[in-house]
Amino acid sequence: MKILVTGAAGFIGYHTVNRLINEGHQVIGIDNLCDPDTVDLKKVRLSLLGISPDSIQDATPIRSSIAIFDFIKLDILDREKLLQLCHECKFDVIIHLAAVAGAEISSKYPLPFYDINTTGTLNVLEAARLTGVKHIFFTSSSVVHGKLSQAPMKELDNVDTPMSMYAASKRAAELLCYSYAYSYNLPVTIFRLFTVYGAWCRPNTIPMRIAHDITEGKPITVINNGYLVRDFTYVDDVIDGMMFTINTPSHKPGQPPYALYNVGRSTPVPYLSFIQSIEMALGQPAIIEQVPTDPFTIGEHVEMYADTTNLEAELAYSPVWDYEEAVPLFARWFKENYNVNFTI
Ligand SMILES: NC(=O)c1ccc[n+]([C@@H]2O[C@H](COP(=O)([O-])OP(=O)(O)OC[C@H]3O[C@@H](n4cnc5c(N)ncnc54)[C@H](O)[C@@H]3O)[C@@H](O)[C@H]2O)c1
Repeated sequence: MKILVTGAAGFIGYHTVNRLINEGHQVIGIDNLCDPDTVDLKKVRLSLLGISPDSIQDATPIRSSIAIFDFIKLDILDREKLLQLCHECKFDVIIHLAAVAGAEISSKYPLPFYDINTTGTLNVLEAARLTGVKHIFFTSSSVVHGKLSQAPMKELDNVDTPMSMYAASKRAAELLCYSYAYSYNLPVTIFRLFTVYGAWCRPNTIPMRIAHDITEGKPITVINNGYLVRDFTYVDDVIDGMMFTINTPSHKPGQPPYALYNVGRSTPVPYLSFIQSIEMALGQPAIIEQVPTDPFTIGEHVEMYADTTNLEAELAYSPVWDYEEAVPLFARWFKENYNVNFTI
């Protein structure tokens, strides 16, 4: 299949492209390589995919040295160039991962979150509609589950109370996806992801922050006096699930071709246990500061994990990696690559 991956230089984008090219798909990846703090990490990921960072220029395709993969530095907010690319390439599938992520930072910079995550998604949907794309795969976030949701989080929970701009921008994008599926019969599948981690992870994720703080001997603050429960999803599980779906958009009689799944390991993991597992895998002690802060005051839940009943029932698939097995792999990668310029 001919597949466009947006956000190809990102954490999940890198793993996605890697899997797709190994499976023999023809892939074009785009990314605007924004954010000076993480651009080096993005270039490292691209170089692992056979793209020479020195040859990257705006809007110019670069062929990978190892696979049928072309990378183009392109912004999804450039509606015209995006449409032109989709016209020229006639993609079968678009895997839309490009976004700015992070609830905390979205409070400081709300506008780019709306522009990129919401308007950017609209641009991708519109380019897909106008060029006959057969399936769009989009990643939303568990963060859309606001105050009215309770663990385990289900797809049909009321998600009308987003607790951050990141949450609001992703929820708005989900709604745009539904309306394109409904109005234009454009097949869309959405995965709402619950804290994904693995090699080449995004620096501002919880697992990366914990690994950094432990390595640098910095204290790790845990709110709600240390009692938090989370769902940690190993990146291979996300990619496996994505591969299950890209060939098979939802097709239910009388309904738009739209599916939304909550995707996590669906095992509640105490935050302190997760820290302890990274501590053990890195072989260095964590300094933990437990503080009474109420999670809701900073847009967090006490307990947050996915109900994956729908994923299992409709796709006959569920994530399999337990954190006890995956954290040592993540920690080994972290130790080997700690000198790469990860800025948090
Ligand atoms: N990693 C997680 O735990 C997690 C959890 C929930 C949802 N998600 C979602 O999954 C997707 C991928 O997340 P990730 O962790 O790989 O993030 P990431 O930041 O590593 O990757 C996103 C990529 O999108 C690119 N990008 C941003 N704005 C762009 C624009 N205007 N045009 C083109 N490219 C642009 C960035 O340069 C980056 O490389 C995102 O949509 C994110 O919201 C991730």
